[in-house]
Amino acid sequence: MKPLQEWFKNPWLAGTLFLATVGIGVGVGLLLTSVATRKAESRFAYTTKADIAPDESRSEVWGKAYPLEYESWKETSDTGFRSKHGGSAFRDVLAEDPRMVVLWAGYAFSKEYNQSRGHAYAVQDVRNILRTGAPNDTDKGPQPGTCWACKSPDVPRLMAKMGDSAFYGAKWSDLGAQVVNPIGCLDCHDPKTMALRISRPALADAFMRQGKDITKATHAEMRSLVCAQCHVEYYFKGPNKHLTFPWDSGMTVDKMEAYYDSANFTDWTHALSKAPMLKAQHPDFEVFKMGIHGQRGLACADCHMPYKTQGGMKFTDHHIRSPLSNVANSCQVCHRESAEELTRNVEERQDKIQQTRIQLEDVLVRAHLEAKAAWEAGADTAAMKPILRLIRKAQWRWDFATAGNGNAFHAPLEIGRMLGNGIALGQEARIKLARVLSDRGVKTEIPYPDIATKGKAHELIGLKMDKLNAEKQTFLTKVVPVWLQKAKAREDSLPK
Ligand code: HEC
Ligand code: HEC
Ligand code: HEC
Ligand code: HEC
Repeated sequence: MKPLQEWFKNPWLAGTLFLATVGIGVGVGLLLTSVATRKAESRFAYTTKADIAPDESRSEVWGKAYPLEYESWKETSDTGFRSKHGGSAFRDVLAEDPRMVVLWAGYAFSKEYNQSRGHAYAVQDVRNILRTGAPNDTDKGPQPGTCWACKSPDVPRLMAKMGDSAFYGAKWSDLGAQVVNPIGCLDCHDPKTMALRISRPALADAFMRQGKDITKATHAEMRSLVCAQCHVEYYFKGPNKHLTFPWDSGMTVDKMEAYYDSANFTDWTHALSKAPMLKAQHPDFEVFKMGIHGQRGLACADCHMPYKTQGGMKFTDHHIRSPLSNVANSCQVCHRESAEELTRNVEERQDKIQQTRIQLEDVLVRAHLEAKAAWEAGADTAAMKPILRLIRKAQWRWDFATAGNGNAFHAPLEIGRMLGNGIALGQEARIKLARVLSDRGVKTEIPYPDIATKGKAHELIGLKMDKLNAEKQTFLTKVVPVWLQKAKAREDSLPK
C-alpha cells in the first residue's frame, strides 16, 4: 500500500477525496436536518373540524370531517403487496416453516398462525383464527376479553363504560357483539382536540411503574407511543387476565425474561419436552428503540405513516403498511440511494437474520425431541429441570426475535445477538441431554423428524386438525353472524 501522502500528490485523487468528504458531510447534514424538520413539521394541522362524541368508535363518522386521513386509512384493507419477508398479503406462516408447529406444541399457536395484515383486518383475523375461533377449544378453555385489547376502537369505548378490569375479566365471546370496528381513529386520537392520545391503560401503567409519566410525552414521542399501545411484548397477569407489559426490570429480551422468571410465569408446558415455556408477543416498539433509526430519534410514523400530498394538500398517510411498498415517501425523504438499493439493504438484513433464526429452530426442534426421548428413557425430574430451563431460555430468544415482523430491519444487531445467544443455550441443553440419554442406554442420535409439511408437523405433535377446522366453521357460520347482527342493530340506533 502507498502511504497516504502519496495519494494526495495526485491532484485528481486529492480533489476526488476532498469532494467525497464534503459529499459525505453534506449527506449526513441532510439526514440530520430532515429528521429535525420532520419533528417540527409534525405539529401542523391539529384543528378540530367536528364535534365527535368522546366514545365514537366508528371511523366513518370521523371520516366526514377528515376525508384525506380517512380515505388513506381505508387502504389498510389492501392485501396486494408482498415483500420478500413481509407485506400485507395472506401468509400461512406454519406452512412456510413447519418447525414452528413443533416449537409451539401444546400451545394454541401450533394450530394456526398467519402473518399480520393491514389494520382493517384486525377484528376479522382474530375471529378467524383457531386460537380464539374454536368455541369448544378444550385445551385453553374460553379466551378472556383481553384478547380483544389490541384490535379495535370499540375497546376504549367499552373500557370507559365497564372499567378495564371488568373488560379483561369478561369472556372473549361475551364481547363479540360489541367489538366490531377494526383499529381506527379513536385508538390514536382524542376526538375533541385531535391530538394523539393513549387509549390503552396498560402502556401508561407500564411507564408509570418505571417512574415515567406518559401524559407528559412530547408530540414527537407520541408518534411512536400510539403504536406502542399494541406493538409490544405483553402478558395476561393473574386470574383476571389483566393486560400487563413486563417492563419493570427493563425492556430488553434479557430483562423481560428476568421479570417473567421472578414472577414464576409460564405461558404453557411444552407437549413434547415438558419445558415451562414463554411465548413472546410482538416486541416491535422495544426492539425498534435499540436500532440505529430508534437511536437517531425517528418515530414509527416516519416510515409507516409518511407525509403524502394530494390535490395540493399535505397530510399524514394513514395507510399503515410495509414501507417497502412506498420507499419514495418512507425512505427517500432522508436517503438519496435508489429504491432498489434501499430495498436490498432491508432484505440483506432480513436474509441474514433468517439464516441464523432457522439454525436456532433446528437446534430447538432437536432439543424438544431429545428431551421427550430422555423422559421416555426414564430420566428423573432433578436431571431434567436445568435442561428444560435452558430450552425455555433458548426458545424465548427465538420467539422474541421472530414474533416482530419488522425486527430484522429495525435492529439487526440486537436480533443477531439474541439468536446467537439462543443457539448457545439450546446447544448447551443438547449436550446435557446427550449425557442423560447415554446414562440411560440411549447411545444413538435421536433422528430429526420428517416435518417437511405443516400436515406432517401437526401429525408429529398429535393435533387432529379436521375436527378443529370443522368446529371453527361452525363458529364462523353460526355464532359470528349473530354477533354482527346485534352490533349492527346497536350502531343503527346511534346518531349518524
Ligand atoms: C389498537 C392496536 C394497534 C395500534 C394502536 C397499532 N397497531 Fe399495528 N397492528 C395491530 C394488529 C392487531 C395488527 C395485525 C392485523 C391483522 O393481521 O389482522 C397490526 C398490523 C400492523 C402492520 C402490518 C400491516 C401489513 O400490511 O402487513 C404494521 C406495519 C403496523 N401494524 C404498524 C403500526 C404502526 C406504525 C402503528 C402506530 C402508528 C400501529 N401499527 C398501531 C394493532 C395495532
Ligand atoms: C395507529 C394510530 C392512528 C390511527 C388509527 C389514526 N391516526 Fe391520525 N394520526 C396518527 C399519527 C401518528 C399522525 C401524525 C402525527 C404528526 O406527525 O403530527 C396522525 C395525524 C392525523 C391528523 C393531523 C393531520 C395530518 O394528516 O397529519 C388527522 C386530522 C388525523 N390523523 C385523522 C385521523 C382519522 C380521521 C383517523 C381515522 C380514520 C385516524 N387519524 C386514525 C395516528 C393515527
Ligand atoms: C427521517 C429520516 C430517515 C428515514 C425516513 C429513513 N432513514 Fe434510514 N437512516 C436515517 C439515519 C439518521 C440513519 C443513521 C445514519 C447516521 O446517523 O449516520 C439511517 C441509517 C440507515 C441505514 C444504515 C443502518 C445500519 O444498519 O447501519 C439503512 C440501511 C437505512 N437507514 C435504510 C432506510 C430505509 C430502508 C428506510 C425506509 C424504510 C429509511 N432508512 C428511512 C434516517 C432515516
Ligand atoms: C426507518 C424506517 C422504519 C421505522 C422508523 C419503523 N419501521 Fe417498521 N418496518 C420498516 C421496514 C423496512 C420493515 C420491513 C417491511 C417488509 O419486510 O416488507 C418494517 C416492518 C414492520 C412491521 C411488519 C410489517 C410487515 O409487512 O410484515 C411492523 C409491524 C412494524 N414494522 C412496526 C413498526 C413500529 C411499531 C415502529 C415503531 C416502534 C416501526 N415499525 C418503525 C421500517 C421502519
